[in-house]
Amino acid sequence: MPSFAEAAGQIAREAGALLLEYSERRVRVELKGEFDIVTEADRASERLIVSRLRERFPTHAVLAEEGSGRDSVSAEYRWYVDPLDGTTNFAHGFPMFNATLALEREGELIAGVIFDPLRNEMFSAERGAGAFLNGSRIAVSRTPLLDSSLLATGFPSRKRHRNVNVHFFYQMAMMTHGVRRAGSAALDLAYVACGRLDGFWEFGLSPWDMAAGVLLVREAGGSASDMYGQPVDLRGPTVLCDNGHIHDEILGEFGAIFRGEQKYSMPEMGHE
Ligand code: IPD
Ligand code: CA
Ligand code: CA
Repeated sequence: MPSFAEAAGQIAREAGALLLEYSERRVRVELKGEFDIVTEADRASERLIVSRLRERFPTHAVLAEEGSGRDSVSAEYRWYVDPLDGTTNFAHGFPMFNATLALEREGELIAGVIFDPLRNEMFSAERGAGAFLNGSRIAVSRTPLLDSSLLATGFPSRKRHRNVNVHFFYQMAMMTHGVRRAGSAALDLAYVACGRLDGFWEFGLSPWDMAAGVLLVREAGGSASDMYGQPVDLRGPTVLCDNGHIHDEILGEFGAIFRGEQKYSMPEMGHE
C-alpha cells in the first residue's frame, strides 16, 4: 500500500504528463473573470486527478479549483486539488506551472505534492517524515537576515483593484536582494522548502494553492503563518512562509506596512 504522498505523487505525475501534452498544442483560453483565465487543460487535469482520487480513496472528500467537490461536505480526510497552478503562465507559454494535491486529516495537513512536469521535479511531504525533491530530502535556506534574502509573492487574478500587495512588494523589494513574481504559488512555496527562495507571501490565495506548499515548508524546517503571525488558515486571507530565520523580521516589516509606516516612499520620476 503506497503512502498518501506516494499515491498523490503518482496522480500528480499523470496529471503533469497530461499538462505537457496540452502545452505542446495551442489551448483555447476562456475567462472566468475579467483577467482570470481557465483552459481545457485545467479541466482535463482536474477530471483526471479527481477520478483517480475517487477510485483510490472513495470515502475521502475532495475540493478542487475548477468545481469538483464542495467544502461543506464533512469527512475525516479531505484532498485539496489545483489541477494546474500557473494557468496564466501555461496559456502564454511561460515555463512555470504545476499540478498540486494535498491531504488534510481532521483539519491537519498530512501529505502534499507539487509536480513540475517541465523540470520533472516532484516535491513531496508527509507530516513528520520530512520534505523531498525527487526522493532526496530538502531543507529551507540558512539565510539569516532579510537584507540578504530572495523572496517571492504573487497577485491574484480576481478583485485586483482591492489588492494592496503592490505596496508590500515595493517595500520588500527595497529591503532584500529581490522579490520574484513567477506566477505559481505552489512552486514558490516548493522553492522556499528547498532553499531556492528564502520566503514567500501572498494575499487572497485559495486552500488548493497553498496546502501542499505549507506542509512542504514546515517539513523542510521553515515557518508558516499568516502575514500577522497567526497560525496559517487555508481559508484565511494571507499567508507567509519562510526559512524561519527571517520570519520575525518579515512580520515586523509587514506590521509597519499594515500600520501605514512605510520605510520607503516612491521616488521622484527621474531619468537615471
Ligand atoms: C494562481 C497562481 C499565482 C497566484 C494566484 C493564483 P492559478 O493560481 O498560483 O501565482 O499569484 O493568486 O490564483 O489560478 O494559476 O491556479
Ligand atoms: Ca493556483
Ligand atoms: Ca489552477
